[in-house]
Amino acid sequence: MKKAFVIGHPIAHSRSPLIHRTWIAEHGLDASYEAIDVAPADLAAFIGRLREGEFAGGNVTIPHKEEVMGLVDALDPLAKRIGAVNTLVAQKGKILGTNTDYEGFLANLDAQAPGWDAALESAVVIGAGGAARAILAGLTDRGVPRIDLVNRTLGRAQALAAEFGPTIAPGPLSRMTARFQGAGLVVNTSSVGMKGTAFTDLDLSGLAPGAVVADIVYTPLITPLLAQARAKGFACVDGLGMLLHQAVPGFRAWFGVAPAVTETLTNRVLAAL
Ligand code: ATR
Repeated sequence: MKKAFVIGHPIAHSRSPLIHRTWIAEHGLDASYEAIDVAPADLAAFIGRLREGEFAGGNVTIPHKEEVMGLVDALDPLAKRIGAVNTLVAQKGKILGTNTDYEGFLANLDAQAPGWDAALESAVVIGAGGAARAILAGLTDRGVPRIDLVNRTLGRAQALAAEFGPTIAPGPLSRMTARFQGAGLVVNTSSVGMKGTAFTDLDLSGLAPGAVVADIVYTPLITPLLAQARAKGFACVDGLGMLLHQAVPGFRAWFGVAPAVTETLTNRVLAAL
């Protein structure tokens, strides 16, 4: 039997067991996926235990995504670039760290807004935390010519622009509306929109016709940002899709099967939120 896990602290809220167990059942695999609470002080010992070969691999969530980088045997280039690991793969007693947010974000955009990058001239990314790093890497790799990166703390946006290259123009969150003018894609990577919060003075009117608006927040599924986008007729991409798509590469690596993000899975996870 192949075994996988998600570690975090706390871990009870994680949706990963539901996602992976649904796929395990769907494919009839002799496999398991369990949530394990690992306190920060026990992380190194847990990684040591992984080298003994009990698990094929697993997911890593808060607060271990950065700390674990220094404990694994190898990091793939994407994890290095993003500066965080959310997936571990055990290979012949060695532990490889990777980050699947990049693939999850792009796969979800491709699924929910096919053709989003055709003739795209500029995008606005909101937020400059960990999620923004994976998304900036994805958007620059897909050739988005200009990205306006707005953040409450300007210094963090400036630091990311210095790191991710000259196509990224940093600015304060207060100038967000001006940056929307003519943009063909908006991505919210900040936590604003979660559980009743919302951007103040949000006005998407200036976006390019046919623009796509994406949110990584999925509680609620339709954030105030997406609600306004929908009302103005723009294409909407919700954050639940990214959560599901980012789980695909891990499952594939541990169990050797490429799982699908289906409507059944989406509805199952949605019902559990
Ligand atoms: P993650 O790793 O999930 O991206 P993070 O590193 O804590 O989380 O980043 C959260 C992002 O949400 C940041 O861009 C943060 O802005 P600051 O850099 O100014 O902290 C943004 N954010 C969180 N709460 C916010 C709020 N009330 N208004 C505006 N931005 C907010």
